[in-house]
Amino acid sequence: MIVTIDGIAASGKSSVSSGVARALGIPYLSSGLLYRAATLLGLDSGADLNDEAAVLAALHAHPVRLEPLAEGNRVWQGTRDLTDDLHSSTVDHGVSVVAVLPGVRAWVNDQLRQVPPPFVAEGRDMGTNVFPHAPAKFYLTASPRVRAQRRAKERPEDVDAIEAALIRRDELDHVQSAPAVDAHVIDTGPLDLEGVIGAILTGVAA
Ligand code: C5P
Repeated sequence: MIVTIDGIAASGKSSVSSGVARALGIPYLSSGLLYRAATLLGLDSGADLNDEAAVLAALHAHPVRLEPLAEGNRVWQGTRDLTDDLHSSTVDHGVSVVAVLPGVRAWVNDQLRQVPPPFVAEGRDMGTNVFPHAPAKFYLTASPRVRAQRRAKERPEDVDAIEAALIRRDELDHVQSAPAVDAHVIDTGPLDLEGVIGAILTGVAA
């Protein structure tokens, strides 16, 4: 079984995917973490993030591995755990640039498709592009303000700056971030975390 959970930035995908995966007793895969890892390695190597060859060279020089645990994914480079460095504002700002590079998208998709099911796959294009035959697909949305208020609890910036950055990232991501035609679209604005997880579990069981 593959369950796909896509959605816009800060729509709650990671927490929801982790909760759904734990309830189902299966792992979840965070594709966004792999895009973030590609961005971090590109930045660390001094690459121009628009330069696909330079970013791919950084990825191949220092291979990374996704550890798909239900309680939260980790990204390793050998014995170095990169996970805590992947949610900085610097990575937030660069990741949409790296995510449009076809070679990086192919690298991420290849890593995800090597994982044996069952799992919950979380991202932007899991239901449309990476696992189009998944039997249960969901797409999470919420207004920019609601998302900024949630993220302000995890970032040092104020809510207006976070909202502006989210709107910018929505625009940059919109090509690869659209609901699959057979996805259940859930507005998470009026729901708490348990409410969204419950709605998805009901949809999976239907
Ligand atoms: O989900 P998260 O916010 O961590 O994703 C970080 C970025 O990675 C997104 O803003 C988007 O640019 C990119 N991404 C993507 N396709 C995915 C997952 C993430 O383009 N499937």
